[in-house]
Amino acid sequence: MTGFVASPVLRAAWHPVAEGVDIAGDPHAVTLLGDRYVVWRTADGTVVAAPDRCPHREAPLSQGAVVDGVLTCPYHGWSFGDRGHCIGVPSSGEGAAIPPTAHLRCVNVEERYGLVWMCPGEPSEGIPLISHEDDPRFRRINSGIQHWSVCATRMVDNFCDISHFPWVHTGTFGAGQSTLVPRIELGDLDNGWFGYAYEVDANNPDQAVATTGTTEPVVHRHMSTGFQLPFSVRSTIRYEDGLEHILLLCSTPVDDTHSLFTFVVWRNDDFSVDPQEVITFDRAIGAEDKRMLEMVPGTMPLERTGLVNVQADRASVEWRRRFAALIGVTG
Ligand code: FES
Ligand SMILES: [Fe+2]
Repeated sequence: MTGFVASPVLRAAWHPVAEGVDIAGDPHAVTLLGDRYVVWRTADGTVVAAPDRCPHREAPLSQGAVVDGVLTCPYHGWSFGDRGHCIGVPSSGEGAAIPPTAHLRCVNVEERYGLVWMCPGEPSEGIPLISHEDDPRFRRINSGIQHWSVCATRMVDNFCDISHFPWVHTGTFGAGQSTLVPRIELGDLDNGWFGYAYEVDANNPDQAVATTGTTEPVVHRHMSTGFQLPFSVRSTIRYEDGLEHILLLCSTPVDDTHSLFTFVVWRNDDFSVDPQEVITFDRAIGAEDKRMLEMVPGTMPLERTGLVNVQADRASVEWRRRFAALIGVTG
């Protein structure tokens, strides 16, 4: 077992913890890297996050209420406004001085790609760049946040790996695919993504037609898969007819063996198909990975000798090597 969530470096990274649409009305509870936070939207529409612990008697603020952007603690009714400032202590009466230590210590939050990203420490890097976000030919489709009983490191390892396609994805696109993986050449992709490009023939069952835009039984895909530390993976798919389908796969550690999963899609289709229909197939693919990974217990070894690797594992091995170096695991 290699636990990693206590690593301070991971507190300097951005992690998607919710979708922007989730943060409306009631306070939202989030556990990130083993720590609990309350997330809510203040009156000016800004999302704020703070430890889920009232400075007064440590009640969970996420069990309180938000009215007009003001968060009220369920225990003695202290209230918190913009930037987590304590603005009311009912027992002291109106106008009484607020103790300076009553204000919440908010953590860094940004909304990007329809997701709410949190960085509990001082950010060392920016949020990974998906350039299609600003390209008007592409539309973005968000998929919702899922809870997986899986170690986040196993998820990233899986998302970098194509040799499981014909074994795990038999119900979706992998059934007809060769089990042989061509030689993987790793290198810089674009915008800070590191990984590899490859070609695959994918099965195109009826449920995939909205996604691929064709009824051909098998479709050829030009693909690339790349990662950015710590836990972001981008997969790009280009079909012969020029249709592009970009996937951002996000794994956020709740703790060492539980994670949030979400994926975001960008597509240059004609925007006519219902977005939910377009991502139904991707959801089914994700469910196949989840079913497989939830059978694998515990955390993934990060030491070099902890697992046996073959050439098809080059990308995930490289991610694992860099991740281990990042959090200071040696050997
Ligand atoms: S514990 Fe929150 S107001 Fe007392
Ligand atoms: Fe998979």
